[in-house]
Amino acid sequence: MILITGGAGYIGSHTAVELMMAGHEVIIMDNFSNSKPQTLELIRTLAGKNFPFYEADMLDTTALEEIFTRHKIEAVIHFAGFKAVGESVAQPVLYYHNNVAGTINLLQTMSKHGVTQMVFSSSATVYGNPQTVPITEDFPVAAVNPYGSSKLMIEQILNDLYNSDPQWRICILRYFNPIGAHPSGLLGEDPNGIPNNLMPYIVKVASGQLPVLNVFGSDYPTADGTGVRDYIHVVDLSLGHLKALQKISVEPGIHTYNLGTGRGYSVLEVIDAFEAATGQKVPYQIAPRRPGDIAECYADPSKARVEMGWQAARNLTDMCMDAWRFARPAV
Ligand code: WQD
Repeated sequence: MILITGGAGYIGSHTAVELMMAGHEVIIMDNFSNSKPQTLELIRTLAGKNFPFYEADMLDTTALEEIFTRHKIEAVIHFAGFKAVGESVAQPVLYYHNNVAGTINLLQTMSKHGVTQMVFSSSATVYGNPQTVPITEDFPVAAVNPYGSSKLMIEQILNDLYNSDPQWRICILRYFNPIGAHPSGLLGEDPNGIPNNLMPYIVKVASGQLPVLNVFGSDYPTADGTGVRDYIHVVDLSLGHLKALQKISVEPGIHTYNLGTGRGYSVLEVIDAFEAATGQKVPYQIAPRRPGDIAECYADPSKARVEMGWQAARNLTDMCMDAWRFARPAV
């Protein structure tokens, strides 16, 4: 069985569906800190399969011990963690405690039960502000906020763990900018409150829940002056986890992969693509740069293609259409 920590979350829930559709048996553990209980039923509906669920926190070692005692777990896909950049700057200790200490609890429990296969959810934010683009996995890493530092610390822990015991089989996946939703419209990104990220904000403006999109800066050294990112469809991202699971199931080692499309889009290009794909207007205004933002970031995803046989298949129009369908079910 595959344990999915944070499996009720945005990427975790989509990955749980794809895993079960591919024939895997899964267990989901989530504390609902950034997800909702009703997502579990939607996962069951889409996968056409049931699964054990534990409302549990990585900081609760008793709960972790119970899960590993009750089930024969072959591998863990580890999504659980706080991920809001701004919040991490305001509350760094909360982020290090939850993300890093929580992961240490998980690794200790895995070791105790002889489970040595892990796929870890990392982030392109570990690259900080890259000197050039596209970014390859051997680029220097330099986290620029506590959220990114917590991801980098966990990557370091996983590398040290592997070096101490080559029995471990680990894939570290560095996500670029996941957006979009399951094509059924049943699963998607549903942040509580005012979204920090671009696509959920665009969707709320398009549906009239927010009046206008603020474009954070139009004076970046990019083609149209607005920030460029590598947006990747959440289903493509989920399928990357299946490939990673397959890889560690057949060979030992620790591997790090960029999961991106290899194509960067500016904020204005995303707005245009969303309006063209959905027919919905997105009123916007140019606002000051957001502190901590970088100008340009997109992946060279060739290592994942060569070593895992994975590459993104969905384009920006797909991402916009699916995001809109989730937010605004057919009326
Ligand atoms: C994208 C672009 C903004 C909102 C963050 C985290 C990263 C990952 C993904 C967790 C930028 C611009 C945004 C808005 C805007 N999270 N923007 N108006 O900052 O690239 O990455 O989310 O893993 O770790 O760092 O994503 O969607 O916030 O911003 O103009 O209302 O859209 O300036 O250029 P980001 P984002």
